[in-house]
Amino acid sequence: MANELILIVEDMDLLREGLREILVNEGFSVITARNGREALDQMHNKVPELIVSDITMPVMDGIDFYSAVRARKEWIGIPFIILSARSEPADFTVSRHLGVDDYLVKPVSRDELVNTVRSRLGRFQQAQMARVQQAYLDSLIAMANAIETRTHQISHHIENITIFSMLIAEHMGWAGRRLSTLRFAAILHDIGKIHIPGNILFKTGPFSPEEWELVRKHPITSAEMIKDVPFLLDCVPFVRHHHERWDGQGYPDGLSGEEIPDGARILCVADCLDAMTTDHSFASARSLDDALENIISLAGIQFDPSIVLALQTIWRDGRLGLFHSGQR
Ligand SMILES: [Fe+2]
Ligand SMILES: [Fe+2]
Repeated sequence: MANELILIVEDMDLLREGLREILVNEGFSVITARNGREALDQMHNKVPELIVSDITMPVMDGIDFYSAVRARKEWIGIPFIILSARSEPADFTVSRHLGVDDYLVKPVSRDELVNTVRSRLGRFQQAQMARVQQAYLDSLIAMANAIETRTHQISHHIENITIFSMLIAEHMGWAGRRLSTLRFAAILHDIGKIHIPGNILFKTGPFSPEEWELVRKHPITSAEMIKDVPFLLDCVPFVRHHHERWDGQGYPDGLSGEEIPDGARILCVADCLDAMTTDHSFASARSLDDALENIISLAGIQFDPSIVLALQTIWRDGRLGLFHSGQR
């Protein structure tokens, strides 16, 4: 199964070969070195995904080798397992102090070696995956915020709609992948506004029919912009329909009631709540109480009544108020 690259650093030929054979038999690719210096030379050609290293070695010992590896930014995350001949408390203390990931005492059994390597690689790969996902999320937020603040206004719109929609959805029992799809949809719902000229988007007076036509296209443009990204495919219906109304009077497709995708109905409530409680060039911010009263009065007209009910409960529990006052 696995063919991750493991570097074994051990000065005793027989032992180094034995360790290599065990890991090769388990399906790993293995490179070896006789001391820290040789290992560093190897690493300049091929960067391993995990290192198993002896401590006591000629030329460069395991502790110096560990420090040299951790001194390089690009090698700092490579899992490092120390393998020592003695259960020497001093070695153990130094290793722990340095932050060595695992410490195995020779003679180490085949199972102990393989299990330690596997579990350390597994944890490392999970952490890597989490970092990549977080970086992806951060990039999307940065892009969405850049579009939102084209006129250099400070805006919390992306942040607020994301948190409001998460609060509502979690209250309604959403979890896991469904919830994260909604989170991405909240971040990306208005990216199509990049195609609306600034003089229209931030106009203080009413729109001409042509300008209004252009503004009403933004959910379609947002959906078009993400439809070819496989990871974001599930977000497309939520993004496209976030301006539909429960009574069918919304845009772009005039869907009504439960024809509107559930995530889009949540985004619609969260979007309006933030719009009402934020200062705009065309209207000043309402209080949260005032905005909620307005949203409640539009349940069954503009908004899905069950979502408005969820919002009311969150508000009554104090969760919305606490969050909202912290934002301003
Ligand atoms: Fe929008
Ligand atoms: Fe919006």
